[in-house]
Amino acid sequence: MAAFLQTNIRLNSIKIVPGRYSALTDHQFRAAYRIRCAAASPGKKRYNIALLPGDGIGPEVISVAKNVLQKAGSLEGLEFDFQEMPVGGAALDLVGVPMPEETFTAAKQSDAILLGAIGGYKWDKNEKHLRPEMALFYLRRDLKVFANLRPATVLPQLVDASTLKKEVAEGVDMMIVRELTGGIYFGEPRGIKINENGEEVGISTEIYAAHEIDRIARVAFETARKRRGKLCSVDKANVLDASILWRKRVTALASEYPDVELSHMYVDNAAMQLIRDPKQFDTIVTNNIFGDILSDEASMITGSIGMLPSASLGESGPGLFEPIHGSAPDIAGQDKANPLATILSAAMLLKYGLGEEKAAKRIEDAVVDALNKGFRTGDIYSPGNKLVGCKEMGEEVLKSVESKVPATV
Ligand code: IPM
Ligand code: MG
Repeated sequence: MAAFLQTNIRLNSIKIVPGRYSALTDHQFRAAYRIRCAAASPGKKRYNIALLPGDGIGPEVISVAKNVLQKAGSLEGLEFDFQEMPVGGAALDLVGVPMPEETFTAAKQSDAILLGAIGGYKWDKNEKHLRPEMALFYLRRDLKVFANLRPATVLPQLVDASTLKKEVAEGVDMMIVRELTGGIYFGEPRGIKINENGEEVGISTEIYAAHEIDRIARVAFETARKRRGKLCSVDKANVLDASILWRKRVTALASEYPDVELSHMYVDNAAMQLIRDPKQFDTIVTNNIFGDILSDEASMITGSIGMLPSASLGESGPGLFEPIHGSAPDIAGQDKANPLATILSAAMLLKYGLGEEKAAKRIEDAVVDALNKGFRTGDIYSPGNKLVGCKEMGEEVLKSVESKVPATV
């Protein structure tokens, strides 16, 4: 499974995905978006990184995280070719679809993808297939990144930013492993239809095949094994058939991981326990929709959703790395966004996407250093600290990357 987390194969064959279309010529597209290519310097490792800034605060946080990634990499002998491509609302405005073929191709051919955020008021009334969020679903589905790792850690420097009491929040360190390409998000039948009484009905289907449960459960067991050896599987097996199968498969796999202590919890109870006593959790594994909801809840324990990164990984091909916060259109373009979730996503990209743990550690240490020096964006500000904007926070992290002694992994 270590191999799973570090797999990074460049794919040469590109799947043509029907329904994506770009009105721009290749030349126009490349002119609109910067595409750099150069040969690797001697003795340096070179990686292709697809940058998908997206919408709202996405471009601001990606631009900051890119600089940090570049600097931390260069200190470890890594060079990056960045390809910046439009996605979501930005792509809708440019070519009329949320996921242009060119963007998908660049993403699929890259070694790893760093994504900002997707969505905004402007496109809220679009038909479903022209909503910016569809780009996320295409990416997740077509890159087959079924394992979504969402760490929620309360840093000692930010314990006061949590809405929970200090003694409840401090020391929280959990990893939510969310299934990302199945369940009710993708299940068939789906849609808005007319029933036999002529009335509209909305249909979404929660469906899991055994192999989908097994592969995410294995990632979770492996993750727990590298952490504190505790795995809690969250389901709704008292009501949902898909959850009954989920619990059966997870339980059956437990015998292969005797060193991991497995427990099960219903999702309503898990939502409550996360607030009551979050320290009881080490690794959580759950389906797509429960993982979506519980990870937002867990983020608040840490003080701000602006702090939480994520990694989405498949069995092969590039991983997708993104902050779990959204596009925050209310503060977009005002230099108020917290770039730390994206910077930490860049660290996850290095660690899980490229297997470059030393460079990843440089970034993690630099974030802690900037926080230790008291720099805070608005979302994590508390009196006595220095309020900074997105850019300045990025500059401070960059300074810390440069000045910190090389980390030992
Ligand atoms: C997330 C987001 C997405 C999801 C939305 C934007 C479609 O909330 O990544 O958690 O529901 O998966
Ligand atoms: Mg969500």
